Amino acid sequence: TRVAVLISGTGSNMAALVEAARAPDSPFEVVLVLSNRPEAGGLASAAAAGVATAVVDHRPFGKDREAHERAVDAALRRHEVEVVALAGYMRLLTPWLVGRWAGRMLNIHPSLLPKYPGLDTHARALAAGDVEAGCTVHVVTEGVDEGPVLAQAAVPVRPGDTAESLAARVLAAEHALYPRALADFCRALS
Ligand code: GRF
Repeated sequence: TRVAVLISGTGSNMAALVEAARAPDSPFEVVLVLSNRPEAGGLASAAAAGVATAVVDHRPFGKDREAHERAVDAALRRHEVEVVALAGYMRLLTPWLVGRWAGRMLNIHPSLLPKYPGLDTHARALAAGDVEAGCTVHVVTEGVDEGPVLAQAAVPVRPGDTAESLAARVLAAEHALYPRALADFCRALS
């Protein structure tokens, strides 16, 4: 399965997916890494790994989200992408793009959904006194962080945790979870 990974920043989840795709028995290949931010660190690491990269900066499109998405979608079509994996892609999607990729777009979110959709998940988990935190891979639907859950991984909250220390523990779990969930998803497609 031809996968594009959409990023906005560091791209550590993207790197985990690219690495996993190297396995001889991987059911997916990463054919494109696309960022809406030209300065995203993940672009350089993707290029260094030999993966095609693209930038579709959202800023020239102003408030016209759909016009930006049409440019993103055109890049995805050019690379004959079959499945889109959002990985720290910090854009709210319109129903147009979600509809175009219905059932073929995944996201990873740093909480045990349905807890804590949106931002600042780790601070919210700590403020609530949760004893565990984690991450979720889900199918993207119109509601933000709302689609059907494909896989989750839990990690303990430890005494003295800060949002940063908890985020690091969750991120390590993300790097194991996302490749596994994407592989399972692609196997089920074919
Ligand atoms: C991850 O925690 C992901 O779950 C969230 O944004 C972060 C992206 O990190 N949506 P990275 O760019 O993959 O390193």
